[in-house]
Amino acid sequence: MYVGARPAGPARRKTAAIGKFLVPGIIDTHVHFRSPGHPHKEDWASGSRAAVSGGVTTVCDMPNTSPPTLTRAAWEEKRSLAAVASRANYGLWVGAASDNLHEINELMDSGDACGIKVFMGASTGPLLVDDATLLRIFLETRGLLGVHAEDEALLVGARERFAGNLTPEHNEVRPPAAAAAAVKRLIELSRAHERSVHICHISTSAELALLEDVRGVVPVTTEASPHHLWLSTETGQGNFTKCNPPIRDEVDRRALWTAVRRHRIDTIGSDHAPHTREEKQLPYWDAPSGIPGVETTFSLLVAAIRQGRLSIERMVQLCAETPARIFGFSRKGWIKPGYDADFALFAESDLVKLTNADLLTRVGWSPFVGQKVGAKPEQVYVSGQLVAQRGRIVDDAVRGTLVRPGDARA
Ligand code: DOR
Ligand code: ZN
Ligand code: ZN
Repeated sequence: MYVGARPAGPARRKTAAIGKFLVPGIIDTHVHFRSPGHPHKEDWASGSRAAVSGGVTTVCDMPNTSPPTLTRAAWEEKRSLAAVASRANYGLWVGAASDNLHEINELMDSGDACGIKVFMGASTGPLLVDDATLLRIFLETRGLLGVHAEDEALLVGARERFAGNLTPEHNEVRPPAAAAAAVKRLIELSRAHERSVHICHISTSAELALLEDVRGVVPVTTEASPHHLWLSTETGQGNFTKCNPPIRDEVDRRALWTAVRRHRIDTIGSDHAPHTREEKQLPYWDAPSGIPGVETTFSLLVAAIRQGRLSIERMVQLCAETPARIFGFSRKGWIKPGYDADFALFAESDLVKLTNADLLTRVGWSPFVGQKVGAKPEQVYVSGQLVAQRGRIVDDAVRGTLVRPGDARA
């Protein structure tokens, strides 16, 4: 279903939206639903219900599933799961490794995968890309690169220094310098090979300073994640806020907000990484990294709007227009004739305390519980179908469709 002036028949539903805001559904190009492979964390049903309840109508899922989406076969297996169970539209990343560059090109040339995900530093899962492979990725593959930018050599060095320490600061074990070194290398590669790179979860002023110098000169775009905008080393919560790249200090957090407002950040991606409470309660070295967030982005941003830190227009740019443009989702991101009817309807009501009861993610926790946030959208539509209302799923039969870069505009 689409946006247009001439409907094919009479309206099945009329909705009064006077005094409310209708915005394009959020396109979250960075989620880890971890399915197939980790049903105790999330699956496509639970993850996508959480997404649509929070106004996210398109998700792009990362490759570190079991099996990882490094091959056409693994990618198709995930596509089948998503087709059956996803209440949101879905794009699927292909992961990069040393031995799958041919498969990457097949998935990118066919227009099926939404991008190529590269981990420069090991995060959740083994490291598959070394320096030599990184260069080969730039030389031999085609399509948008999405990069987790932390320098592996610096990570290894720092980790060794903290080896005997049972409770180190995660921000020191994976220091800002590791992120900056990786961003520096990416800028060099992007410039030399004229290749589009979307850098995931920028978290430090050091990365921003490097990017400022090459603004408009190299085809590098940037993502920020809500947890880096709302949390800092001063907000605590132990392993529950352990994530990669780490939550940084207040100076970095504020620099990131300035960058969001000054258009130095292009997109917001949640990096939704659902690990269970039990996993998060393990000792520091054993607890997995990652924070669930796909369903709280909207509410946090509405809070920022209420507090005068952001305009609604800027939110729509960050969450819908710009991701659609960068990823080439040509019928998404705008409310325009011929575009897909993915919307969120909301009122600028008072902020409320986020509670566990508001959450639909299987893991059932969020580091933002207790914070004052906007309510989930009053209504969320996926392809013109009303799927969620005030945070509850009202039609559990709605299914999204695969989004592909470069799908022709209607
Ligand atoms: O904190 C993170 N969690 N960072 C990543 O890069 C991966 C993610 C996950 O999959 O859990
Ligand atoms: Zn990452
Ligand atoms: Zn991630």
